[in-house]
Amino acid sequence: MIYWFSGTGNSRWVAEQLARMLDERLIDIADAASRKQFRYKLSPGECIGWVFPIYSWGPPPVVLDFIKQWHIDEYEKSHTYCYMVATCGDDVGLSVEIFARALGYIDLNAAFSVQMPNNYILLPGFDTDPAAVEHDKKERAIPRLDNIARDLTRHETTTDVVTGKYKWLKSRIIRPFFLRFLMSDKRFAADATRCNSCGLCATICPMHNIALDTSGKPQWHGNCAMCLGCIHRCPHKAIQYGKITRNKGRYYFKP
Ligand SMILES: Cc1cc2nc3c(=O)[nH]c(=O)nc-3n(C[C@H](O)[C@H](O)[C@H](O)COP(=O)(O)O)c2cc1C
Repeated sequence: MIYWFSGTGNSRWVAEQLARMLDERLIDIADAASRKQFRYKLSPGECIGWVFPIYSWGPPPVVLDFIKQWHIDEYEKSHTYCYMVATCGDDVGLSVEIFARALGYIDLNAAFSVQMPNNYILLPGFDTDPAAVEHDKKERAIPRLDNIARDLTRHETTTDVVTGKYKWLKSRIIRPFFLRFLMSDKRFAADATRCNSCGLCATICPMHNIALDTSGKPQWHGNCAMCLGCIHRCPHKAIQYGKITRNKGRYYFKP
């Protein structure tokens, strides 16, 4: 089984590719959490895979929260292969250590990262990748996933990730600050002159955190995963995060 979370489609695509290559079932973490489905049973020989984007040099809090309640019935350590595949714009810092610790009694046998187009645009200096870089990352991801699938088929024990420079600083100093102060949805708003009340943002929000108000404009209700699906997918570029995103690009995965 492959548990996945995705805001702008990169990790979803990776999870779907691996599920196809490995013949695994897919479990949408946000959907499972909203249905309070936390208990699972493995069929004989079944592996546990996790696919998610990197948020500030660690796994997304929504994934870590899911794992706190997640349980595998009749888990057999010696027979169960467990892995993570993280998508990131650049590098993952100490995400593997953070994730392995979150898994608790479940051993993490393998970890991989896949560079995909960047979707983080909410701070100065961060923007979507130029078209050529986006294209290049997506092209490189295809053979990368073939290699990952090969390692997974062989149940390799490996850590094959791009940690990047200053990983300790990024994951242990910047990340806690980011999670504390930069995960709020308070600054999201729709420009009334551009928003046509199509409701796509509300439909795609994995947290069911967006609802249209009486005037048909989206409101965010404080349970945001910071996945940025809403801002990137809005067909009219009506959604902004304060003023910082006005001149930034938009991205979501298209095959
Ligand atoms: C809140 C947030 C924080 C991010 N932090 C990082 C990061 O620390 N390192 C990195 O390389 N990419 C970072 N990114 C970029 C995403 O990890 C990357 O674009 C990912 O592939 C998006 O996956 P998705 O399309 O499945 O949502 C961040 C994105 C978001 C939304």
